[in-house]
Amino acid sequence: MGKPIVCIVAALCPHMGIGYRGGLPWKLSQEMKYFRQVTTSTFTEGKSNAVIMGRRTWESIPAKFRPLKGRINVVLSRQFPSFQREDDRFLSNDLSHAIKSLQDLPVERIYIIGGAQLYTESIDIATHWLVTNIHFNSQNEQPPPVDTFLPRLTHHEEVSPEQLAEFLPSQVELPPLQALQYGNHHYSMQDNFTYWYTLYESQNT
Ligand SMILES: NC(=O)c1ccc[n+]([C@@H]2O[C@H](COP(=O)([O-])OP(=O)(O)OC[C@H]3O[C@@H](n4cnc5c(N)ncnc54)[C@H](OP(=O)(O)O)[C@@H]3O)[C@@H](O)[C@H]2O)c1
Repeated sequence: MGKPIVCIVAALCPHMGIGYRGGLPWKLSQEMKYFRQVTTSTFTEGKSNAVIMGRRTWESIPAKFRPLKGRINVVLSRQFPSFQREDDRFLSNDLSHAIKSLQDLPVERIYIIGGAQLYTESIDIATHWLVTNIHFNSQNEQPPPVDTFLPRLTHHEEVSPEQLAEFLPSQVELPPLQALQYGNHHYSMQDNFTYWYTLYESQNT
């Protein structure tokens, strides 16, 4: 049995913006649904996925929605023990140790779900990035403000939408492929936002 894939899941606007004042800059229901399906669905019955997040991202999730259900939740803080279960989640002060500890559990995939600090530290660890690209289209209104950014992905290359679909379990509902101004992708649209789902793979493996 191979080790679980470590995959980053992030939604980005064009200048790699991901957050504003401790929360998300947008509220996009289809994107939330996609995130839930991706991080929850597995290929193998009886296995679960794990989600690892930084302390600030944990705090940004409304209390009634955390821990994220159907997934093993791991929260990182330098104040926490090395890897310990507390109530309905695991706490850890060390990303590599958390990943190694999860590899001893029946975990199918390990998803790194943010925020900026954790994404940045995981760039060389994650072999895959699931990126939702978010564009704001209105001519009349300003795009939402953003104050938290990611570095550019330099060692990862985008793969085709077909490879994205193969990477995901069949329970994940991708919208139909369309050829629009941003290329051939699985698009969702809401309010003034157009967004589409992509997969990047590490070129270092
Ligand atoms: N667009 C997206 O897809 C997306 C996804 C998730 C989050 N976000 C946004 O990102 C923003 C939060 O990002 P952020 O960078 O401020 O915070 P963050 O990465 O969520 O959390 C940072 C905290 O996590 C702990 N931490 C990080 N790396 C660690 C390590 N290697 N070992 C131990 N502890 C570690 C530290 O906690 P202590 O200070 O307690 O030591 C650190 O202060 C929010 O605006 C959120 O909404 C966006």
